[in-house]
Amino acid sequence: MAETLAEAVSRRRTFAIIAHPDAGKTTLTEKLLLFGGAIQLAGEVKAKKDRIQTRSDWMKIERERGISVVTSVMTFEYDGNVFNILDTPGHEDFADDTYRTLTAVDAAVMVIDAAKGIEPRTLKLFEVCRLRDIPIITFVNKMDRESRDPFEILDEVEEKLALDTAPVTWPVGRSKTFCGSYHLADRTFRGSDTQVQPTRMDDAAEVAKHLPENERNAFIEEMELAREACRPFDREAFLEGHLTPVFFGSALRNFGVRDLINALGAFAPPPRDQVADTRKVHAAEDRMTAFVFKIQANMDPNHRDRIAFARVCSGMLERGMKVRLARTGKTIGLSAPQFFFASQRQLADTAYAGDVVGIPNHGTLRIGDTLTEGEALVFEGVPNFAPEILRRVRLEDAMKAKKLKEALQQMAEEGVVQLFSPEDGSPAIVGVVGALQLDVLKERLSAEYGLPVSFEMSRFSVCRWISSDSAAELDKFVTQRRGDIARDLDGDPVFLAQDAFSLRYEAERYPAIKMVAIKEYH
Ligand code: G4P
Repeated sequence: MAETLAEAVSRRRTFAIIAHPDAGKTTLTEKLLLFGGAIQLAGEVKAKKDRIQTRSDWMKIERERGISVVTSVMTFEYDGNVFNILDTPGHEDFADDTYRTLTAVDAAVMVIDAAKGIEPRTLKLFEVCRLRDIPIITFVNKMDRESRDPFEILDEVEEKLALDTAPVTWPVGRSKTFCGSYHLADRTFRGSDTQVQPTRMDDAAEVAKHLPENERNAFIEEMELAREACRPFDREAFLEGHLTPVFFGSALRNFGVRDLINALGAFAPPPRDQVADTRKVHAAEDRMTAFVFKIQANMDPNHRDRIAFARVCSGMLERGMKVRLARTGKTIGLSAPQFFFASQRQLADTAYAGDVVGIPNHGTLRIGDTLTEGEALVFEGVPNFAPEILRRVRLEDAMKAKKLKEALQQMAEEGVVQLFSPEDGSPAIVGVVGALQLDVLKERLSAEYGLPVSFEMSRFSVCRWISSDSAAELDKFVTQRRGDIARDLDGDPVFLAQDAFSLRYEAERYPAIKMVAIKEYH
């Protein structure tokens, strides 16, 4: 019998993996894909990542485009569930891209290096998840190496993240003697993911037999303490983002990965309701809705087409359907939506809430766009962050100014940079969150548009979106400060300041003007 919409939705799990670089995100992703049958060999994802290790290589690959498109989302099926892993760029200079991607997930896996604990980037990414109440499953990786005491790691999560922990499994052995984990609730021992099924063992002394004799007593004591002192898993608290279930393992050595997939299937939420301006949209509603959270220039620069990554929020997206683009009110046809697997893409005939489809287009779609079957609603929550670096673009060939304008507009629509056009008619200013984004801009302007450019300091270093409850006050401010006002891609006004000090000063002088560092797309 054909699957109902509600059934299709209930087996979707859409998540991201958050980690500090080197904690093992790539290795874990690869193992998830391997066990899900989406790749055949360990090493396929890793090889791609290694090819993009160095900055110059990265630029080349970025130019060639292929890799990042293919790895933006990866889908696999396991035990009846459909898992969509949304990849986030590793480098912090692309933080805004990561934050936008996190708006499209329903859960996250936080990978912690067992020797290092919570590292800065993990903390930052966690904070973004918390803002959106995204439930988090913790995977303590690299237990096959020298690691910290598990209690210490749990304490650190509780303290640094203010998040309750509930260890679901407990590691058996450390570094060289690490040989598996014990499921605290099921009372089963599991060895490597590639070996036999978990076996029931009620008694810690029985589990301890897997360890060298001199470690057994300590293990038995530790188990007693873990059972007494640790919180049991509470799904409600997890779904609300207050508690994280914790798994110990080793992605490289295939320990704990199956437990993690099972947990994603059993605990992680199916596609959530999404908040739109007019109402809440439920995932199992009949009519299709989706929003675009990422744009990527296509593999073929000669054609200038782009892939918009859209997360389906409700209903069924079908190939060939006509949808309404909320920003313009126009109808567009979805003639070739695509699914992405680890190493290939495929035409998507149908997609459900939680799925991510790539929609090829020539600039019709932008980040934050809402697609519906006709209803006039706009999803909230894909943010735009005030850039921390502002530059003027200097063109070597002044004759090409018009072409540059077009190219910058396209790059801005893709989310590579933000573009601000000063009210006084002076040349546009580009803004980025991380310096590496400027390198990408320069490289792409040269490679794709034949426009060699350099960057000049601008007299501004800070910018804020401005608004006011009083249109008259806003007009007054814009007129008085014309030289410091610019418009973003949507025509919304921003105030440009020399530094944080003058920004504060002006904010105090003009209390009727709201100045914000995060703009939600509309
Ligand atoms: P990332 O994407 O989070 O940056 O991390 P990645 O998976 O690339 O892993 C970083 C390094 O940690 C890699 O070693 C990887 O092999 C290793 N690693 C990942 N998981 C485990 C684990 O469970 N146990 C151990 N012992 N090591 C692990 P590398 O030396 O940088 O690369 P490679 O040359 O070994 O592939």
